[in-house]
Amino acid sequence: MHPVIEIIKSRRSVREYRDKEVEGELLHLILEAGCNAPSAHNAQPWYFGIVKGEKKEKISGAIREYYKKMVFGLNSVLEQSARIIDSAPVIITVWNHCPLSSRIEKIKDIPPEYKGIIRDYEIQSISAAIENMWIAATALGLGMAWLGITVFCEKEIKELLNIRGNLITILSVGYPKGELSRTKRISLERIAIFYQ
Ligand SMILES: Cc1cc2nc3c(=O)[nH]c(=O)nc-3n(C[C@H](O)[C@H](O)[C@H](O)COP(=O)(O)O)c2cc1C
Repeated sequence: MHPVIEIIKSRRSVREYRDKEVEGELLHLILEAGCNAPSAHNAQPWYFGIVKGEKKEKISGAIREYYKKMVFGLNSVLEQSARIIDSAPVIITVWNHCPLSSRIEKIKDIPPEYKGIIRDYEIQSISAAIENMWIAATALGLGMAWLGITVFCEKEIKELLNIRGNLITILSVGYPKGELSRTKRISLERIAIFYQ
């Protein structure tokens, strides 16, 4: 199998990490993979807040405080995210600085659906950056998890990091602990339509 395909297929959500720091050079390579992603209008709408130690503990603490106040039941998924963040030596908070959507906001009489399309472009671009980072981490022997649920706590995390923009997700990064189970995939026959 081609090595790139092999790495793509071996990527997994890693939710428990060994007690081992991620080397600075490796973290750097992962972030470089992220910022080499394609983006709509090459706007590169992403930026990354890299968090370790006490600040990271504050983030998992804020997530726990948040779900205690929730009116509907996402407690267990948020608690799982807090535990993953505690287990990982480092997390990457991923933000949208909205270079396209903030510009379009200022145009008078723009149809509202245009705003949604432009915002989707930013999200698609940032998702490409996230996947690049995840594949790079896998190739470097590291594991990652995409903790999308943490956006519920955007306001609290933003305050802790004193950062502007929209929180897209938190990525946990570290050396995987234990066996990684394979997740099922829908077969190609069911999802790909080949036209003559
Ligand atoms: C947009 C998005 C949000 C996700 N949010 C979470 C999350 O909050 N918590 C979590 O444990 N995994 C989260 N995941 C990971 C998925 O659950 C995971 O990718 C999927 O189950 C397939 O497993 P695999 O990554 O091991 O192949 C998220 C993935 C994506 C793309």
